[in-house]
Amino acid sequence: MERKTGTTNKFLLPLLLLILLLAALAGPRRQPAPVTAPPLTPAAVEYWRDRFPAQVASYLRTKEMEATAHAGSVPYQKLDRYPFMRAMYHGFGFWFDFRESRGHMYSVEDTLVTGRPKFGGVCWGCKSADYPALTAQYGQKEFDTMFWSEAARKTDHPVACIDCHDPQSPDFALRLTRPWLEEAITAQGKTLADFDMRSLTCAQCHSEYYFEGPGTENKIVFPWTFGFRPEDALAHLDAERFSDWTHPRTGAGVHKVQHPEFEFFQGSVHANLGLSCADCHMPRVRDAQGSEYTQHWLTSPLKHIEASCQRCHADVARIKARTEALQGELRASANEIGAALEKAINSLRDARREANVNQDLVRQAQAKHRRAQLFLDWFLVENSTGFHNAAEGRRILEEARRAVQEMTELTDKALP
Ligand code: HEC
Ligand code: HEC
Ligand code: HEC
Ligand code: HEC
Repeated sequence: MERKTGTTNKFLLPLLLLILLLAALAGPRRQPAPVTAPPLTPAAVEYWRDRFPAQVASYLRTKEMEATAHAGSVPYQKLDRYPFMRAMYHGFGFWFDFRESRGHMYSVEDTLVTGRPKFGGVCWGCKSADYPALTAQYGQKEFDTMFWSEAARKTDHPVACIDCHDPQSPDFALRLTRPWLEEAITAQGKTLADFDMRSLTCAQCHSEYYFEGPGTENKIVFPWTFGFRPEDALAHLDAERFSDWTHPRTGAGVHKVQHPEFEFFQGSVHANLGLSCADCHMPRVRDAQGSEYTQHWLTSPLKHIEASCQRCHADVARIKARTEALQGELRASANEIGAALEKAINSLRDARREANVNQDLVRQAQAKHRRAQLFLDWFLVENSTGFHNAAEGRRILEEARRAVQEMTELTDKALP
């Protein structure tokens, strides 16, 4: 099947060679320019310090780096810890560099130093508090399609207060600043009122997306037309005939999933209790004077488990152990499926080199690769290691396991 692809194979190899050549010419890897303190405008976190000292002080704690058993904010290289990812992402930007994410205060810095190629100004959409003002100033399409480096010179501030709060409103009310969220919810036949603002503010960035384009508007789209599950995303992408890239080993049109936290959380035990993202990630706590405020240290809640979980799970040591056991079980299963997928990818590559291979069965195996990879990736890049919805995590991994198996069987059958 002919597909629109984000990075077509034809251009990929010359592009890679060019990058390697330039890297060789540049000699030893240059240090990134030091990140200087951004100006103190309303887009700066520190701008609000006098008015909201407790919220600002807690938000600044997102600079701290500490690992947890299965997540945390130490930016280790995932490609080294999970080597099968190099096979999965072969031919795409994440093949070069895929580090664990850190706190909001690093969102600009981490975007500047990543080794991945960038699409354009649109990449700042979820990384900088300057994005809404810049798209208003230059135009949405104009800024989104601007060269990434040019857009980078205009972008100073990491994710900050005004991304979620209206700076004009007297009570600093919550607001949404990213147009793609409402578009995606409307496409599903729902309205914003069907959801909680204490989760919607996060959903602006902690959701799976793709860029419509390139060659069009570099528009961010959430593939939600049919629902929030991975099969719904796959149906949406199939309908749009969209692939992020053509996998160089299997020839399959594949898709890179990105942080579907909002989607994965839907229908979970905790979502069904009416909890929002903020309930665990932004618990109500007391300052030194004893007044209550919303803690803005957006990090793993396992670092402040008393504040986030104890009101329902009295024995925090036990609930922490139960959480880590769930994550460990799901992680082990994902690693197993990842290793099987790597094998299946290499078998399909080898089969395609055979002269008399059955092309129809190869195409069917490629479709299974597309499916297996999307389901496995959904679990892998959802940042809670399955915690947000353990039952859904098991189901998704089972679907991935089945698709890998079918891919392998079809590949074997395709051989003469
Ligand atoms: C019931 C409590 C709870 C709710 C509700 C919740 N989370 Fe989480 N979240 C967690 C736990 C626990 C982890 C796992 C942390 C770990 O392994 O250290 C986590 C992990 C994460 C991480 C990765 C953190 C890291 O250290 O890398 C992100 C990002 C995240 N959640 C975002 C969200 C978003 C967005 C929502 C709403 C859609 C949400 N969470 C709802 C408890 C919750
Ligand atoms: C990622 C979204 C997000 C960011 C960024 C954010 N907030 Fe909030 N803020 C919230 C949420 C959610 C609440 C809870 C609102 C509610 O429960 O109605 C909140 C509540 C507040 C409140 C109400 C009082 C309280 O503590 O509950 C103030 C004031 C506030 N935030 C200030 C700030 C400041 C200052 C910054 C920047 C340092 C900031 N916020 C950054 C989401 C955010
Ligand atoms: C404007 C975009 C944006 C919004 C809105 C946003 N985030 Fe994030 N968030 C990010 C980015 C980007 C990162 C990764 C930063 C990095 O790695 O440098 C991140 C990282 C995180 C992490 C991981 C921190 C760590 O230490 O590993 C957590 C937890 C998190 N966000 C929770 C939330 C929650 C909860 C909300 C809503 C209340 C929210 N975020 C709203 C963009 C956003
Ligand atoms: C509003 C109450 C509430 C809060 C807050 C809450 N939980 Fe729960 N949690 C529940 C209930 C109710 C269940 C279902 C009964 C059970 O399994 O204990 C549950 C289930 C769980 C489970 C089993 C889930 C599964 O899929 O099998 C884990 C693990 C868990 N919670 C961890 C946490 C952690 C960690 C936090 C804090 C970050 C937290 N919970 C916050 C009420 C809550």
